[in-house]
Amino acid sequence: MQKHWWQEAILYQVYLRSFKDTTGDGIGDLRGVVQKLDYLKDLGVDTVWVSPHYDSPMDDNGYDIRDFYKVSSDYGTLDDFKTLLREAHNRGMKIVIDLVLNHTSDEHPWFVAARDPKHPDHEVYKDFYIWQKPKYEKGKRKRPTRWRSWFGGPAWTYNDKTDEYYLHIFSEKMPDLNWRNEKMREAMKDVIRFWIQLGVDGFRVDASNHLEKNWDFPDTYPGYENFSGLPKHHEYLEELGKELFEPNDLLVLGEAGGATKEEALRYAGFDSHEFNMLIHFEHCWVDTDAENALTPGKWAKGEVDVVKLKKSLSHWHDIMQGKGWNAIYWHNHDHPRIVSHYGDDGKYWERSAKMLAIALYMLPGTPIVYYGEEIGMTNVDYERLEDFRDVEVFTEYENFRQNGASHETAMRALRDRSRDSGRSPMQWNGQKNAGFSEGTPWMPVNNNYERINVDRQKNASDSIWRIYKELLQLRREESLAFSKATFYQKNHPENFLYHVQGDEHEYFVAANFKEVSIEISLPEHVKDYSVFKTNVENSDASLFKPYEARIYRKRW
Ligand code: GLC
Repeated sequence: MQKHWWQEAILYQVYLRSFKDTTGDGIGDLRGVVQKLDYLKDLGVDTVWVSPHYDSPMDDNGYDIRDFYKVSSDYGTLDDFKTLLREAHNRGMKIVIDLVLNHTSDEHPWFVAARDPKHPDHEVYKDFYIWQKPKYEKGKRKRPTRWRSWFGGPAWTYNDKTDEYYLHIFSEKMPDLNWRNEKMREAMKDVIRFWIQLGVDGFRVDASNHLEKNWDFPDTYPGYENFSGLPKHHEYLEELGKELFEPNDLLVLGEAGGATKEEALRYAGFDSHEFNMLIHFEHCWVDTDAENALTPGKWAKGEVDVVKLKKSLSHWHDIMQGKGWNAIYWHNHDHPRIVSHYGDDGKYWERSAKMLAIALYMLPGTPIVYYGEEIGMTNVDYERLEDFRDVEVFTEYENFRQNGASHETAMRALRDRSRDSGRSPMQWNGQKNAGFSEGTPWMPVNNNYERINVDRQKNASDSIWRIYKELLQLRREESLAFSKATFYQKNHPENFLYHVQGDEHEYFVAANFKEVSIEISLPEHVKDYSVFKTNVENSDASLFKPYEARIYRKRW
């Protein structure tokens, strides 16, 4: 089978707003990414996924795009973007950008025309979006359906100029585009062509599984089945793939939360024309507490279900083996920090962060490291609601209070689970604002920056940063991306074990996700292996200390 560059790539996600500010306005920028390319290269990264850099009113930190052809003034200029491409390419690195297809900002000229019948271009753009007449009950105007937006409120907003509601499955400032409209699809293809011609190496396709809607508009609650994973969205993606992605040898990483295993090959099989790899998030919330009614769903933190985690990782691995390609990641900008989430950000902070790295990054596929993960950055420690920034936080806070949660309980849920918990400024050093900015950061720096920062870890011989660097190097040397893994004891509630075959050596990975010691009985053949790397001194044969992880290597 022919190898593609993106199979060997090592990705790092930069959340632009929080990565590095070079102007002193407290907001990360494109020049900041340029400044840190050498840092990333040293870590072992060769491909940078940059979160949306487009002009935007920033209702959802740039996922609400006002002008697809313009760089946000928060982040720099088109020239800065070109500099980023050039500087990355000079270093043999690649740049992947976010591509937001499902919606625009309500300030996008298409929507401005669409919502106003007096606008000269109204007729052209009206049908770029999704409109429905109100329903009336006892003379009272009501929304067309009870569908709920992913950010917590209703998915319809009334537009008095047309006496209609428009659909927005995210915030009300993010109206959904109508993918059935061919003119809209063509306009979006022009956008994609523009960035390809500029020289980007790929796209991360945002919210890709929501492009098609159920146009019968059944009145269900919350109604997610009417705008998620409907079969026709694959047609749209295939159209883009065949016309634009494939001919340009791009890395295309699709985001499709909740994608089923049955759909895996359709999205990212070698015969698929849609994506090269997929972000599905199945293993990202295996620690929810179904009993918690005050802060329900993802907001309810419970114990990590190790069986679910293993099953998810191994299922996706097995489905793709030889037939498609997997991305491997712990999280992105929509999740809590992984060490706070599946590890421990207290007593076992360092050990558990290393364990998480070892447990994941020996697996086949293309890894995606989220900024700050390589130094074990933790969830935010904010005590005040005003310190949060995300649109979702504020609607959900109200929901929790209405469910009867106290202010403290609601704040706990936000610190533990909100998207903001993983978006705080990058901790570069122990100086002012953690070296992120000379000005006031757009969201507060985590108070632990003097203890947790890049400088400190790069200077230590045995840090979380070192483990990341070593693992990324090992992946390359052993071509682990192309290897095959076999999970063991999949139904065991604690033991996390897999075998992986490298070019030169065979490895066996064993990890303890618990904050207590556990006995792991290793498979018989591991007696031919020796401990190659571990996060604990004096590791004992069968006793695994809290959050201990080991990589064994087979002796010649
Ligand atoms: C994706 C993004 C998320 C954003 C949403 C709407 O899920 O990852 O951050 O809010 O799409 O664009």
